[in-house]
Amino acid sequence: MLQVAQLIENYRKDIEAYEAANAQEAEAFRIKYLGSKGIVKAMMGEMKNVENDQKRYFGVVLNEFKKLAEEKYESLKNGLSNVSETSTANMDWSLPGDTLPVGTRHPLSIVRNRIVSIFKQLAFAVAEGPEIEDDWHNFTSLNLPEFHPARDMQDTFYVHKNPDWLLRTHTSSVQARVLEKGKLPVRIICPGRVYRNETISARAHCFFHQVEGLYVDEQVSFADLKQTLYFFVQEMFGKDVTIRFRPSYFPFTEPSAEMDISCTVCGGSGCSLCKHTGWVEILGCGMVHPSMLENFKIDPNKYSGFAFGMGIERICQLKYRINDLRLYSQNDIRFLRQFTSAL
Ligand code: PHE
Repeated sequence: MLQVAQLIENYRKDIEAYEAANAQEAEAFRIKYLGSKGIVKAMMGEMKNVENDQKRYFGVVLNEFKKLAEEKYESLKNGLSNVSETSTANMDWSLPGDTLPVGTRHPLSIVRNRIVSIFKQLAFAVAEGPEIEDDWHNFTSLNLPEFHPARDMQDTFYVHKNPDWLLRTHTSSVQARVLEKGKLPVRIICPGRVYRNETISARAHCFFHQVEGLYVDEQVSFADLKQTLYFFVQEMFGKDVTIRFRPSYFPFTEPSAEMDISCTVCGGSGCSLCKHTGWVEILGCGMVHPSMLENFKIDPNKYSGFAFGMGIERICQLKYRINDLRLYSQNDIRFLRQFTSAL
């Protein structure tokens, strides 16, 4: 009896130390301990030699020994990686895979990325600026001094008074920040969020998004402006779309214009989107005002440039027929999910 107990103790140590690198080694363990001619069976056979008063105790020891071997075998099998021969052999490759949920990009991000990639084709680099601006970059340097009536159209939220810090009303502030660096030529687009003090409705919001464009070099003309924007429109909306310019006013450009495109819904024949005019306005633009160049110590006799600014929400509305500005910021999953595959 003592001898058998010693044997079991040795086997126990062997079991605990056993490691299997592959399925064959795990199987060798099973045969050695749990097979029909295995050690567990052999130990059970010793039962007949045990004296009667020891049988009960020896039975408990043997059962524990068997359990130990069985558990070890299970853990050896589980420890093998899934790519082991036995597990791959049993796999059903025809089963459908687990689908990964695909997130959605916000429609404004989709359109912004598209705008950026179109202008990148024309070698425009992306520039960014802060959303909290000072008065100089947002207004004064752009020929919008204090009390200028054009400021009324761009009332905003003031973070600090004297000196004035405000939430920028347009991305034109980035023009100012880039020009003040004094490195020419400049060819940039500036996407970003802007703010205005407006009552929220389907057509107005207290924040929205713009993409600004600025090109300053020697001999930049209005023809360059027209051709650049025409290229953009055709890439964005298709070759059938035409453009027109209407004279307008911005303090930082001269001459200034508003650009319309032929209505993407009715093709120009007149519908409710274009208010039966056949045209929809998409951006403001113009030649950079000489006095603005002077504000940044750039010689207007040597350099000229054009600038434009468009609302991303507006482009998005024309592309996807989204006619309520509030939808963009409500985070309604039913709205956002519609853009799942539009990367
Ligand atoms: N900043 C103008 C606006 O927000 C748009 C604009 C940009 C006009 C650049 C001309 C040139 O209305």
